[in-house]
Amino acid sequence: MALDSRFLAELKMRNGIAETIGSAVQLKRNGTRHVGLCPFHGEKTPSFTVFEDTASFYCFGCGAGGDVITFTMRYNNLDYIEAVRYLAERSGMALPEEEGRNAAYQRKKRERLYEMHKLAARFFYKNLMSPQGKAGLDYLLGRGISKESIVRYGLGYAPDSFNALKDHLREQGYTPDEMMAASLITRSERSSSTYDKFRNRVMFPIFDLRGNVVAFSGRLLGDGKPKYLNSNETEIYTKGQHVFGLNLAKNEPDGLLILCEGNLDVVSLSQAGFTGAVAPLGTAFTKEQARILAKYAKNIVVAFDNDSAGLKATDKAIRFLEEQGIPVRVLQMSGAKDPDEFIKTYGRERFELLIRSSKTPIEFQLEKLKAGMDFNDTALKVDYLRKAVETVGGIESAVERDVYIVNLAKELGIGVDAVRLEVERFRKRKASTVRRQIVKQSEQELKGTYDRVNPERSGNLRAARNEELLIAILAKHPGLWKDAEEKLPPEEFITEFNRRIYSFILEEYRSQPELAAPVFAKAFDEKEMARISFFINTATLHGDAKGQLAECIENIKSEKAKRIDPKALSPEELMQRLKNKEN
Ligand code: UTP
Ligand code: MN
Repeated sequence: MALDSRFLAELKMRNGIAETIGSAVQLKRNGTRHVGLCPFHGEKTPSFTVFEDTASFYCFGCGAGGDVITFTMRYNNLDYIEAVRYLAERSGMALPEEEGRNAAYQRKKRERLYEMHKLAARFFYKNLMSPQGKAGLDYLLGRGISKESIVRYGLGYAPDSFNALKDHLREQGYTPDEMMAASLITRSERSSSTYDKFRNRVMFPIFDLRGNVVAFSGRLLGDGKPKYLNSNETEIYTKGQHVFGLNLAKNEPDGLLILCEGNLDVVSLSQAGFTGAVAPLGTAFTKEQARILAKYAKNIVVAFDNDSAGLKATDKAIRFLEEQGIPVRVLQMSGAKDPDEFIKTYGRERFELLIRSSKTPIEFQLEKLKAGMDFNDTALKVDYLRKAVETVGGIESAVERDVYIVNLAKELGIGVDAVRLEVERFRKRKASTVRRQIVKQSEQELKGTYDRVNPERSGNLRAARNEELLIAILAKHPGLWKDAEEKLPPEEFITEFNRRIYSFILEEYRSQPELAAPVFAKAFDEKEMARISFFINTATLHGDAKGQLAECIENIKSEKAKRIDPKALSPEELMQRLKNKEN
């Protein structure tokens, strides 16, 4: 990436971390720190912290962290360049003309991908409306989908041909390689010739939130397998990161989204006036999708298919959505397998009633426990009570908990106090298990049994800690970099990850001596950024930075001297050492 550090440093200066994050997350100031509820995981007590002095953030709850660019990438769901562009625009900075040939090339490539998808979507739509598309149109109309809905969702038809789209795109100047990269054509294994991927299918374009077509989902006109064929992942499409229909539903004035399973449910619901309908697109509903929905929804009703798979998927969706802090309700149908069929059979008013009588997640859990229940059987009743106590015991709000306790007592014909006592007992038991788990987890973290970012850390704890402290000192005292470099070249670092950071810092300061702080975001990924942000902000620095730096260097050197890396020795040296050991 050719955006230079000077530009990025200015970008970070103009987009102050506290203001930028503060416009998205409610923050409370405490000196140079600001705390608030983490936007990346559901939490009730704030552990998300913004550090003004190091221009970074870190969440002590979920471990998210980084700088203002990292934040923008995650929060606005942008890639690195897009985030930089966004921040530049926001603060009135012009992007440097010279973005580097590679970046310009990548951008061009993406633009052509978008353009190709737009052309393909138009091609499919035109086809659907032409005589060749009659089969497709008949299918959609036959399923009760109106012309308006077809236009609204941009539906189309891929003709029963191996080269119709390919020829069309070629005429527009696209190469087979580009079409392959767009997942619009396929290569045959035997003859290595290429042909249209989507044939004789009704086409659902998938839009991103800015209204670009980024992929397709094509349904067979009848029965057969696979029912849907979907685009593979491409540079502009990642599975599990897009939600079908959200480009339209995101502007719902009341913020009520209806999450259903199928593309056809979405079209059918919105045609019936439920314009907040969205679907997860082929994959099981993901955390990432929950995070995206959380940005646009005030309430979500989950309306998955009325079968065992749907029930299972509902549990997961509830969990993911509640983690994001959105109120969720569950819609249950009988007499139809999915919302599309329900509306066709019973009409929109009945569906409206289903929405109104949708259940809270707790009611939904309790009903599942109750399924096939016979309250005359004492053993079954006790068993139900035990499980119900666990469900109700999981509710955080005492008031809400009490509502369910009273209901439960009534329903089972037992005293409220007895139920309440059981629930509180359960909560105490649970609290102590959770405490034990936390202790165990932090012990494991200390031992570093599971460290993907810096796998060498656990085996070299003292060295790694000193390396991290040194990095923290340099991040806060740029003036000391020459000192550090002279006394400790990067080769002396023991863990590879920290060495990479150290080399990066030295390189930054060397090329931009006036830089106030290194801009890590261009060279490290999200997990790495979080780690860097963590140790920079938790390091205990004392007043004498220079002295502390010298101490770190001494410690790293002494650790290095203790270490014998067999790989670094020549065979002769290795033999020599082995001999010495024997003596
Ligand atoms: P459904 O089989 O319920 O499809 O799968 P549907 O959209 O409701 O269509 P109809 O009503 O049966 O005609 C739900 C979703 O799962 C994905 C699609 O996104 C579909 O909309 N899916 C399903 C696939 O990706 N591939 C498949 O083969 C089947
Ligand atoms: Mn379905």
